[in-house]
Amino acid sequence: MAVQKKLATIFLLTSIFYGHGLSTDSDVGLNTVEIIEKHGYVCENHDITTEDGYILTFQRIPHGKNNDNSTKRPAVFLMHGLTSSSAESVNMGPNNSLGFILADIGYDVWLGNARGNAWSRKHTTLDVEADAEKFFDFSWHEIGYYDLAAAIDYILDLNGDDSLYYVGFSQGTTSFMALASTRPEYNSKIKVASLMGPASYMNHQSGTLLIVLSKYVNELEKMFNKYKIYEIPYLKQLRKFALDFCSNPDNVDTCENVIGLIDGEDKTQIDFEKFPVILTNAPSNAALKQVAHYGQLIKNGGFSQYDFGKDKNNEIYGTDSPPAYDLSKISAPVAVYYGKNDQLVPYLDAQTVVKKLGNVVNDYLVPYDLFDHLDFIFAKDVVKLVYVELIKVMQNY
Ligand SMILES: *[C@@H]1O[C@H](CO)[C@@H](O)[C@H](O)[C@H]1NC(C)=O
Ligand SMILES: *[C@@H]1O[C@H](CO)[C@@H](O)[C@H](O)[C@H]1NC(C)=O
Repeated sequence: MAVQKKLATIFLLTSIFYGHGLSTDSDVGLNTVEIIEKHGYVCENHDITTEDGYILTFQRIPHGKNNDNSTKRPAVFLMHGLTSSSAESVNMGPNNSLGFILADIGYDVWLGNARGNAWSRKHTTLDVEADAEKFFDFSWHEIGYYDLAAAIDYILDLNGDDSLYYVGFSQGTTSFMALASTRPEYNSKIKVASLMGPASYMNHQSGTLLIVLSKYVNELEKMFNKYKIYEIPYLKQLRKFALDFCSNPDNVDTCENVIGLIDGEDKTQIDFEKFPVILTNAPSNAALKQVAHYGQLIKNGGFSQYDFGKDKNNEIYGTDSPPAYDLSKISAPVAVYYGKNDQLVPYLDAQTVVKKLGNVVNDYLVPYDLFDHLDFIFAKDVVKLVYVELIKVMQNY
């Protein structure tokens, strides 16, 4: 049956996150803080409280391994993708992770953690478990509108500068666009925003998982709510199953092919040794509404706020349909990076974003035809294909 096939696909997609082979990489099992410190860098945790009461824990690498901060360092804020965390920016080690590279070349590096993920599960009045329905009542809109806003103010206050660099991956770009278009006053606090895999318009979506989810987005939401499921949990058992499954040489092909389903056909850039490191911290927790909101974009077209249905939309927005984000309001300089083989953020949709944004300073199609979505954080050659360019552009601002 078609539905069973789709469920099997989703299950395999999940399992690919769990690794391939038994890795000898010594970062396996370490969280963000432990990875940073193990490689000889200073790491600080900072709690940031949002206007609506969420308490987020960010990591900061105040300076590089072999330098100090006796001279002032510009702040850079890195924001992760969906069901991810700050680990995304340090997983690949000092030579290949943007978090370490930026610290070493002179930046004050801040690694974000969105509300609800493994690091950011506190609130001034709500309990993450007892009040789960209320706690997880947010999508990436609130992550942009509240979390990014609070973080930018906190970082600037501590760093002493009046603007910072922003680097977002995937949902980290979506939430940035939500913030900068709905609270335009934040644009002046951004020196330049680098958006890797800019997820917003989804007219050419071909990622199997998201397409399947988007078809059933309303039904799925109702069903999950009925069972009082509001969050994508950290699935320890499934993770273990997949790690075992993919460690079996007989299953290697299956594991590799599943990657193609989630995110294009590129297997040339995957470092299988790093999978267990990545899977130590990913997927991290997220609200189901974050996924549902992406599903709505695919289903409804355009790039709009959350669709609550006609009645509630009228109550909240005063219109039948949710308002579209107006990207022309984003006046901060924005550099856009996208891959030809990205199935989750197809390059044709990325080019729509480029056309709609108010102030694009770099329109960069990665010069490697097989480059796909996850390659922005995990590719073997990501430094030479993307980060060198991204840093060059940052240094102009
Ligand atoms: C400089 O780095 C240290 C950690 O080595 C950190 O505790 C301190 O806050 C930093 N100072 C500034 C001004 O960023
Ligand atoms: C980083 O690259 C340098 C120079 O190529 C190498 O000596 C070092 O071992 C690498 N570090 C890691 C953690 O891979």
